[in-house]
Amino acid sequence: MTSDTRPGLNSLNLSDPPLHTRLRTQVDGWIRSARPRYQADANPIRDLPRQTLMALLQIKEPLARRLQELAIRVAQHRPGANQQLLESLRPVACPLDWAAEDQLYLKRLLTLASLESSSAALASLARHRPDDLEEMLRLHPPIQRFGRHLLREARLGGQFLQAGQRVVVFFAAANRDPRVFSEPDQWKTRKIGHLSFGFGPHRCPGRALAMGQLRHLQASPPPPPRRFYASNFSLTPYEEPISDEPK
Ligand code: HEM
Repeated sequence: MTSDTRPGLNSLNLSDPPLHTRLRTQVDGWIRSARPRYQADANPIRDLPRQTLMALLQIKEPLARRLQELAIRVAQHRPGANQQLLESLRPVACPLDWAAEDQLYLKRLLTLASLESSSAALASLARHRPDDLEEMLRLHPPIQRFGRHLLREARLGGQFLQAGQRVVVFFAAANRDPRVFSEPDQWKTRKIGHLSFGFGPHRCPGRALAMGQLRHLQASPPPPPRRFYASNFSLTPYEEPISDEPK
């Protein structure tokens, strides 16, 4: 999820079991304790992820806004943005008894992992207004792809892969695999789960928080009509209220 390559430090997303299992148990406990309070706001696509982060990190609105701004700048690879994000997160308390640097990188992971993915999912919901959220996540995965680094050689899909190679899963392709999903491009009630939250030990620990945001928006009165523009550069569609359009 991040390009976090610090050797020798405890990193949730870059560790394997048994270390990962130990770290994950603690992080799951932290995430479970977050109790977000959502307000009906002007822009749920930006506000609900920020209110979730406020509950998770126990921070106030101005800092959360700053983190949201910096997370966007990190995603855009703006020079210095990652360092500014780390500096902003340094004073934030962490409930886990970890080394200070490990705490810092975990806070960064939680910030980056939660904001953009949730915004993208909420944007899909505002656009499609489906009844079935799981089917929406299958057809419109908020995270498009995810990479893994091979530590030893392996065979995958008939291909031999060597240690050091990278493999990437494209969730949109996996979620529409015709061998698994009948009529994969259709909206249907499915018995088989999608992969949009990942799979295996690293499967997203923020699923409940993400679904809580989606359910909150689903239960809210529909926002004013908006026009969405697909973007090649950002997962979150660019959106503009139709009423702002020039006549
Ligand atoms: C709709 C919104 C979200 C989507 C689609 C999503 C999706 C994902 C995916 C695909 C992964 C990688 C799983 C893997 O490696 O197999 C992941 C990991 C992760 N997500 Fe989410 N996520 C969402 C929201 C959140 C939220 C709200 C949080 C906040 C707690 C969060 C925290 C994390 C963390 C910490 C990891 C790394 C877990 C690990 O490596 O053990 N995510 N997420």
